[in-house]
Amino acid sequence: MVKINTCIFISGKGTNLRNLIKKSREYNFPINIKLVISNTKYAKGISFAKINSIPFVVIDTKENNFEIKMLKILEKYKIRLICLAGYMRVLSKRFLNLYGKKIINIHPSLLPKFKGLNTFSRVIMEKEKKTGCTVHYVDEKLDSGNIILRKSFFISKKDTQKSIKTKTQKLEYVAFPEAIISIFRYC
Ligand code: GRF
Repeated sequence: MVKINTCIFISGKGTNLRNLIKKSREYNFPINIKLVISNTKYAKGISFAKINSIPFVVIDTKENNFEIKMLKILEKYKIRLICLAGYMRVLSKRFLNLYGKKIINIHPSLLPKFKGLNTFSRVIMEKEKKTGCTVHYVDEKLDSGNIILRKSFFISKKDTQKSIKTKTQKLEYVAFPEAIISIFRYC
C-alpha cells in the first residue's frame, strides 16, 4: 500500500501525535508521518518526533515569511496531508490556497458548539448533556470547515472539567485515525 506523506502540526503535549505515529506503523493505516512542525520549541510533543526519528522543525509564526518557509519544507517532504493536532495557530487563507492539499484539525467539542479555547469549562457552564470531539477540514476561520466526523459521550453529574478532558482525549485517539481512514477510503 502506498501511504500518504503526512505532516503533523503541534504546539503542545502531542498525545495525538504519539497516537498517530503508533497507528501509522500499522500495515494498512493510510498515512506515513514524514514531518512534524511546531510553532514553538517548547512543545513537549517534539519529543515523540525525536524518539521516533521523525524529522521536525520549529517555525515560529512571528518570523517573517513563516508561511513560505512552511510551504517549502512541506514541498521538500512531498506532504499531501496536514493534520493539526493541538496546533494553536490559525492558518491564513493565503497559506491554505497556496498549499492546496488536505488539511484537517481535531477539536475537543462537538462542533459547531464551543469553537476556540476552554471548551471543557464552557461545556460544564452551559450544562451540556453531551460532549465529545470533532475532526474537520480546515478553512481560514477558527474551528470551521466541513466536518468529517464527531464522537460523543454523555456527561454525568459526577463529571468534572478534568474527567471530561480525559474522556474527550480518549475519544480523540479513536476519532482522528478513523477520520483519516475515511478520507482515504476511496483513494
Ligand atoms: C486536543 O484536545 C485537541 O483536540 C486540541 O488540542 C489538544 C491537543 O492535545 N486541538 P495533544 O497535544 O495532542 O495532547
